[in-house]
Parts: sequence; C-alpha cells; structure tokens
Amino acid sequence: MSDVLLSIRDLCVYYFLTEGIVRAVDNVSLDLRRGDVLAVVGESGSGKSTLGYSILRLVPPPGKIVRGSILFEGIDLLKLPEEAMRRIRGAEISMVFQDPSVVLNPVMRVGEHIVEMLKYHRGMDEEEAWKLVEDVFESLGIPRDRARDYPHQLSGGMKQRVVIATAIVLRPKLIIADEPTTALDVITQDQILDIFRDLRDRYRVSIMLIIHDLSIVADLADRVVVMYAGKVVEEGSVEQIFYNPLHPYTRGLLMCTPRLISNDANLYSIPGEPPDLLNPPPGCRFHPRCGLCMDTCKKEEPPMIEVEPGHRVMCWLYAKR
Ligand SMILES: Nc1ncnc2c1ncn2[C@@H]1O[C@H](COP(=O)(O)OP(=O)(O)O)[C@@H](O)[C@H]1O
Ligand SMILES: [Mg+2]
Repeated sequence: MSDVLLSIRDLCVYYFLTEGIVRAVDNVSLDLRRGDVLAVVGESGSGKSTLGYSILRLVPPPGKIVRGSILFEGIDLLKLPEEAMRRIRGAEISMVFQDPSVVLNPVMRVGEHIVEMLKYHRGMDEEEAWKLVEDVFESLGIPRDRARDYPHQLSGGMKQRVVIATAIVLRPKLIIADEPTTALDVITQDQILDIFRDLRDRYRVSIMLIIHDLSIVADLADRVVVMYAGKVVEEGSVEQIFYNPLHPYTRGLLMCTPRLISNDANLYSIPGEPPDLLNPPPGCRFHPRCGLCMDTCKKEEPPMIEVEPGHRVMCWLYAKR
C-alpha cells in the first residue's frame, strides 16, 4: 500500500464571474501521506477553502474545476461518476467546516442525522445506529444523552464535537477540516485540536487542516503547505517551515503569529493587501508586497524549487543562474 493517500497535481479551480475569471486555485500540486496532518495556511482569500471543496468535488457555482488530477488511493476523483463520488463523501473523505451551526439541521436531534448516515452507508438498524452514535459521542467527550438534543441546546464547542462525530463515524481515511476552531473560544479550541491529534494517533487518519493561525500548526501538523493568491508558494515539514522558512511570505506569516513570539513583542504585519484574484500582479504574485523583490520577480513567475529534500519554494531568490 502506497504511503501517499492523496496526490493533487496541477489543479486549477476558477470562479467564472461576469467581471472575469477568479483563479482561486492555480496549478496546485501536493501530497498527503497516510496518518499525516497536513496544514494548509495562508491569508484569507488565498484559495484554501476552494482547494478543500475541490477534493470532495463540492466547489459551489460559478466555480469549476478546470484542470488537474486529484488521486485518492491512486484513483482520480475528478474522473469518477457522481454516484461513485457520493459513496466516497462522508465514508472515505469527510469535511469539518468552520461554523457548526451552518451544518446542523435545527429541527433534527443532533444524533439523528448520523443515524441516517449509518443506515444508508452501513445498513444498520435504528437501535444499532443510535448505540454507535452514543459511543462515538462519548469518545469525543459528549455525554451520551446529548445525542437526542437539538442543536440549540448545545454550546458552540459541543456542536463542533457533533460535527466531528459526523465526520468520523464512518471511519474515513481523510478528514478535511476547514478552520474548525475559528468560531470557538481559545480553551474550546485547544480541546477540539486535542481531538484531531487523538484521531490521527489512534486511527492513523490523514487530516488536511486548513487554518490561518500558525501557532496551532506548530504542535499539530507534520507538513505545511503555504498558499498565496491561489498558488502553493512553499511546502515542507513543520520543522523546515518553522526553523528555516524560505519564502518572504512565509517569513512574514511567522512574524505575524502572536503565540510564537514573546507575548509583548510588537506584532508585525505584512505590508499591503492580498491581490485581487481577478487581476493578479504579473510575475510573482507576492512581488508588490515583498521587501526582497528583484526585477525578474515583476516579470516572470518563479519556478518551484526543491531547496532541500521535501522542502520546496516558489521564489526567484533560490533559483541558480
Ligand atoms: N462562490 C464564490 N464565487 C466567486 N468567487 C469566490 C467564491 N468563493 C471564493 N471565491 C474567491 O476565490 C478566492 C479564494 O477564496 P477561498 O477559497 O474562500 O480562500 P480562503 O479559504 O483561503 O479564504 C477569493 O478571491 C474569493 O473571493
Ligand atoms: Mg476559507
């Protein structure tokens, strides 16, 4: 069995607006190994969520997957009939979203939706399914009887646990978690992150953790992908990214992260704004904000360069000429 679970190559996902084309994911390639947590980081608008939705083929219109391949256990998801894709969603690959309230149906008991999933995918009867739901709830620190509550009876943290229960009950091989803690307070955030750590360690599930807070990445992720304006600009192990960041953008992101540097440090912020993806700058998309910008950067897009094994960067500073 190959060690690589998910392999994305040259993926392009665009939103077709009347004003023009938003290249939200532009030639993205990455690999995710079994049992790894891969963090996808970058400012808002860099294409992280679009990338996550693409894997499940749930990009909302006017978005379209234009090109590329998404190999999951060697099978290109982009070539599967919709019916086969439906069997993969939830069962093999599941997704946890930022805001649990959007996902939970307000008029259903929180366990009920999961019971329905178990009946559909696993052919369980009602009683068996409720028992399993309560077991999963308990393993995530939700009291068993809460399965019969309605969403409004639960706190934000409990709701997010329910969403995680939904995402893991069928034992998927891959969980895509899109900013799963952003809507929660700091203490609840830590508890939810512990759950992800535990899932990885106990079941060797792979996790794509989409997140903008790099301090969380440091003690949870194995590998990190940094996205800027629809592109992967750097990729490496957590140690490579934190101890030897190469891209000026990655360095800027690290300097912006409060919990990584001393508490009283003056927080840095990267000058300027992320580009409008309808009209991205030519050359390197980061060049207008880059303190190390050279002439070439304004004209030509940099190639992806492997600087050390497993550590790649898209930046002219590292090109040998
Ligand atoms: N439904 C949509 N319609 C049009 N443009 C969109 C839509 N969703 C996202 N975009 C655009 O795609 C780009 C990437 O967005 P997104 O994937 O949400 O980034 P992130 O998750 O990193 O914040 C942004 O420029 C955003 O404006
Ligand atoms: Mg997002």
